Amino acid sequence: MSKVALSKAESLRQSILAQVAEYYQEVHADRPFIPGKTRVQYAGRVYNAKEMQLMADAVLDFWLTAGPYAEKFEKKLGGFLGAREVVPVNSGSSANLVAITTLCSKQLRHPLRPGDEVIVPAASFPTTVNPIIQNRLTPVFVDSCMGDYNLDPAQLQAALSPRTRAVMFAHTLGNPGDMEAIMTFVRENKLYLIEDTCDALGSRWDGKRLGTFGDLATLSFYPAHHITLGEGGAVYTRSPRLAKIARAVRDWGRDCWCGYENPTDGKCGIRHQREVPGMPGFYDHRYFYTEIGYNLKLTDPQAAMGLAQLDKVEEFIARRKRNFRYLYEGLKQFEEFLHLPSWHAKADPSWFAMPLVVRDEAPFQRHHMTRFLEEHLVETRPLFAGNLLKQPGYQGVECRVIGDLPIADKILRGAFFVGVYPGLDIPQLDYMIETFGNFLANF
Ligand SMILES: Cc1ncc(COP(=O)(O)O)c(C=O)c1O
Repeated sequence: MSKVALSKAESLRQSILAQVAEYYQEVHADRPFIPGKTRVQYAGRVYNAKEMQLMADAVLDFWLTAGPYAEKFEKKLGGFLGAREVVPVNSGSSANLVAITTLCSKQLRHPLRPGDEVIVPAASFPTTVNPIIQNRLTPVFVDSCMGDYNLDPAQLQAALSPRTRAVMFAHTLGNPGDMEAIMTFVRENKLYLIEDTCDALGSRWDGKRLGTFGDLATLSFYPAHHITLGEGGAVYTRSPRLAKIARAVRDWGRDCWCGYENPTDGKCGIRHQREVPGMPGFYDHRYFYTEIGYNLKLTDPQAAMGLAQLDKVEEFIARRKRNFRYLYEGLKQFEEFLHLPSWHAKADPSWFAMPLVVRDEAPFQRHHMTRFLEEHLVETRPLFAGNLLKQPGYQGVECRVIGDLPIADKILRGAFFVGVYPGLDIPQLDYMIETFGNFLANF
């Protein structure tokens, strides 16, 4: 402690934060794993006292909306991603909505317009596709590849029409799509590319981070994801112009560029003495609206938690990769019954989870296996929506469909995933492998 006496407020803050750490240790610190008694989660929050202390610190500041912590989080995340611009939002779904809405902006020379087509895989997370529909664009559904469950680049040419303007897809469970083939198609046809990297923080293709190939990319910070803010997400891009529009879409549609910690007179210092083109007299540019926007901002306590998570992100990624490798090796013996995932030679996935597909020839169905695993406390999840077109919400949606989507149907029928998240260690992975073995011993 410095020789200068702490103010009463500061010493109270320090004692609260010390107690928060003590509380973490008492209530939240890791509990031992007991096979068959402790649930083996498919994903979950991984945190220590630091997250709780930074959140508590933000609560004591009582800024509440996005403020100083959000600004720090934005910068630190940008540094990690190698992205010039980061626009934090309140979920990955919001990030996708902001990304697509940004590309529809009248401020762009070539905006997406109603009826323009966006190519997407039918086997998608719902809110990767929904913003296309919500912006009155037309999704063109293509199939996925067996093994990596990503958009099948072989179908792109067949999906192309004079109205095609963009490709949007998620790198499935962190496994990169074939960026060589996709980028060739996107460049040759002068299309926008939006990469949903919600499940792929830290994944690379040929050494380059996913999310840096397209015009815009998105992240989710829901607790299942690589880092968490509780709820949260981000749009990122190398383009300051797209980022400015994305911020306006996020912030009610307003054109303001003042940032979070703006003084009363704005960063410009002349907020109340500026002339804004087309508006009467001197006009406060914080109330100047250039987009049909939303309010999709996050809050400062969330961002504070994100800062602590970013300190751990490299370790998280390393553990996800380690867990994936270990589980993959352990499950290889069951390939007679299960398709194990595959990945491209240039892919370096930062895995979200381990996707598995029950073979059509297997003497059991997916639900037999997942029910057994769940009964033995190994959590499973379907591979999101399977074939979106088979979901009731998508009936009657204006779209084009390329081919019969056999792989999307196979995903709907036979795919599920289990965890590789950093909260799992070797004893949990061994227990998972043993539980798969116990089920398959019956056949
Ligand atoms: C690929 C993908 N995109 C988007 C989302 C939506 O993110 P959020 O739950 O933060 O809205 C998810 C959520 O898990 C996802 O997996």
